Amino acid sequence: MSRETERRKLSHIEVTLRKEVQSRRGTGFEDVHLIHKALPEIDKKEVDLTSRIFEYELRAPIILESMTGGTPSAARINAILAEVAEDLQIAIGVGSQRAAVENPRLAYTYKIVRKKAPTAMVFANLGCAQLTKGYGKEEVQRAIDMVDANALMVHLNPLQESVQLEGETNFRGSLNKIREIAHEVDIPVIVKETGAGISREVARAIEATGVDGIDVAGAGGTSWAAVEYHRAREIRNRTRVRLGKTFWSWGIPTAASLIEVVKSTGLTVIASGGIRNGLHVAKAIALGAKAAGIALPALRSAAMGRRSLDEMLSLMFEELRTAMFLTGSRDPSELTRAPLVITGELYQWLEQRGVSIQEYARRTVS
Ligand SMILES: Cc1cc2nc3c(=O)[nH]c(=O)nc-3n(C[C@H](O)[C@H](O)[C@H](O)COP(=O)(O)O)c2cc1C
Repeated sequence: MSRETERRKLSHIEVTLRKEVQSRRGTGFEDVHLIHKALPEIDKKEVDLTSRIFEYELRAPIILESMTGGTPSAARINAILAEVAEDLQIAIGVGSQRAAVENPRLAYTYKIVRKKAPTAMVFANLGCAQLTKGYGKEEVQRAIDMVDANALMVHLNPLQESVQLEGETNFRGSLNKIREIAHEVDIPVIVKETGAGISREVARAIEATGVDGIDVAGAGGTSWAAVEYHRAREIRNRTRVRLGKTFWSWGIPTAASLIEVVKSTGLTVIASGGIRNGLHVAKAIALGAKAAGIALPALRSAAMGRRSLDEMLSLMFEELRTAMFLTGSRDPSELTRAPLVITGELYQWLEQRGVSIQEYARRTVS
C-alpha cells in the first residue's frame, strides 16, 4: 500500500512537471480591476509587504502551497522550497503526509522542510479522505509533529478521487471528522480544496465545525482532472481518460470562490488556484484573502533549482509591490480597502449566486 502511495507521488510530480495540467478556464481574477491611483501620495519604497496569518508574521502574503513528499525526489524539491521560504520568511506547506504516516521510513521527505525552514510558518497536510477512513488524533498528531507544524491543512479532493483509478470516494461523515480534529489539535486548522474551489454553502458548513481557516484552492490553475487524465492515458484506462477530459475545467473559479467564502464566513481565508503573478496576489488581498498560495509555478521553478525559484518569487514580490504602489496602499491592510470593480463573467456569477459585492463598490479612491 505505501509503495503504491510512493509511486503515485512520484508520478504526480512527473506529470505536473512535464504535461499540460492547467484548467482551460480563467480564475476570475481577469474580471477584477483594482482602480488605478494616479496620485498614489506614497513613495514606492515605503510599501511594506509584511502580513499576518493567525499570530505568524510573513514578510509577504505568500504561501508555497502543499505539494509533495513521500519520495526521494520530493525530498529534494521540498528542501529547495523550504530554503527559499526560510530566506524570504514566507509560509510553506508540505504535501499529504499519508505516505509517511503509513510508512515512517518516508518521514524524512517531509521533515526536511522543518529542517531547512526552522523559523518559517509550516503547514502539515492530510486528506479528508484519510480522516474519514479512520485516521484519528494519533495519526494527525504524528503528521503535525513530523514537521513541527504551525497549522494543519486538511485537503478536500473529491474531483481527483473521482477521476483517479485508486481514488477513495467515500466522503460520508467528513464534516464530523473535521469537527473532531478541529477540537482535538491545538494548532489552527485550515480546510483546503485542491483546485476546484469551495462554495459559500460548503464554507458555512466548514465554519460550523470550528476550524480556523479556508484555503479556497479554486479552479483556473492546476486541474487534478487533467493530472489524472495523463496518468490514465499511460495505463490506457478509457473510463478515467474520459472522466479526466470531461471534468478538466470543473470547479468554482478562484476569485468567485474567494468572494463567496469571504462574504459568508468570518474565517481566515487563503486564495490559491491559478495564482501566477504578484498582481493576482494583490487582487486576492484586496478581495479579502489574508495570503495567496502558489503551487505549480513553485514546483516547476524548484525543480529547476533554487535560483529559478528565487527569481520567480522576487518577480512576484515586485509585481505585488507595484500593484500596492499604484493603488496607494502602504501595506496589505490598506490594500484590503483598495477600490475595485468586478466585471464580466465574475460579476454575473456573483449576481446569480446572490453574493453581495456592495462593500467593494462603496470603496473610494481616498
Ligand atoms: C504536484 C502537486 C501536488 C499536490 N499535492 C497536494 C497535496 O498533497 N495536498 C494538498 O492539499 N494539495 C496538493 N496540491 C494542490 C495545491 O496545493 C494547490 O491547491 C493547487 O495545485 C492549486 O494551485 P496552483 O494552481 O498554483 O497549482 C498539489 C499540487 C501539485 C501541483
